[in-house]
Amino acid sequence: MSIVVENLCKSFGLHTVLDGISETFPGQSISVLLGASGCGKSTTLRCIAGLEKPTSGRIRLGERVVYQDAPFRSIPVEKRQVGMVFQSYAIWPHMTVFQNVGLPLRAARRPREEIVRRVRDALAMVGLDSFAERSATQLSGGQQQRVALARCIVSEAEFILMDEPLSNLDAKLRIAMRSEIRELQRRLGRTVLFVTHDQEEAMSIADTIFLFRAGRILQSGPPQATYEQPATRYAAEFLGRANILQEFEWCGEGRQAPFVRLRDGTQFPVSPESGFSPGKALCIRPEKWRIADGTEDRRGLPGTITRVSYTGDRCEYAIETPAGVISAVELTGRNRGTGDSVTLSVAPADIKLVSTD
Ligand SMILES: Nc1ncnc2c1ncn2[C@@H]1O[C@H](COP(=O)(O)OP(=O)(O)OP(=O)(O)O)[C@@H](O)[C@H]1O
Ligand SMILES: [Mg+2]
Repeated sequence: MSIVVENLCKSFGLHTVLDGISETFPGQSISVLLGASGCGKSTTLRCIAGLEKPTSGRIRLGERVVYQDAPFRSIPVEKRQVGMVFQSYAIWPHMTVFQNVGLPLRAARRPREEIVRRVRDALAMVGLDSFAERSATQLSGGQQQRVALARCIVSEAEFILMDEPLSNLDAKLRIAMRSEIRELQRRLGRTVLFVTHDQEEAMSIADTIFLFRAGRILQSGPPQATYEQPATRYAAEFLGRANILQEFEWCGEGRQAPFVRLRDGTQFPVSPESGFSPGKALCIRPEKWRIADGTEDRRGLPGTITRVSYTGDRCEYAIETPAGVISAVELTGRNRGTGDSVTLSVAPADIKLVSTD
């Protein structure tokens, strides 16, 4: 069951925070709302949850309209049946960890043995099995966040909304919880909206990424497709690292093999299907460059390595070229160092055209 928002707008005073979002977040999968701080991700989630009243628009959870401006209809938060894990964890200070996690099951009047079993399972999943009897106030921020996650795990809510649910966990646990959340979604088939500003987290957890910018959704799609084919320069740079080349001549029309010519004369063949229009830039991901020793080969971009950073399995280089400083990544094994001369080339299909806004 999908979540559909239609022309969702939200302003605080004169400040427009959501600028008419129309989108379908697919059912039984994880949609990640990704974007820079202040772009409206939490506001979107809060509107869907019923914690914030939209200025206008319509929101559907499955078949049910939970909000619309005309004729006015707004279902209160507790009747929307959504599970929530928010930045500020809503956990009850007067209850133990066990009681907090078991809350949705007690509300659903489940038998005692079932509650015990499911709460234990959920606590084990988030690594809090030995904390069941602890008072919820005696927990660190990250532990409280895990209590909220465990409560979502046991809840039977069809829709789960998570706002940076992993932000207070240490790096190792954060990575482990990513796969737990994916696993949970697969097993239980819930519809999950997950907010983050961390692109790596987004890539690893999403079925579909929705990239926000200033109250609008810029682009959406599966992580790999979105990374490989960003629509704009902003999307390219937000979703990873990108070399953006703006000064080039497009030599594409009416030829068998179109190519681009950089200012220094270097030519790169491009795919015939990469549509060019004025105002577009070339986008090349660092790992797409092929690096050859020396600069004798005249069919690529000559350069000199000015910086090497070694990350274990990969080497990242900054390479000074006539087209500016290029960043390139290759798997380790070659022993390149600063000062080395190299020639860069790239497969035609790996040169993407992006709009510059
Ligand atoms: N209650 C409020 N009153 C006034 N402005 C608000 C309110 N809540 C949010 N805003 C503003 O709306 C904008 C979007 O906020 P929102 O919390 O949705 O951003 P976000 O994308 O979740 O950012 P972050 O990644 O920092 O959490 C921000 O400029 C914020 O200051
Ligand atoms: Mg937020």
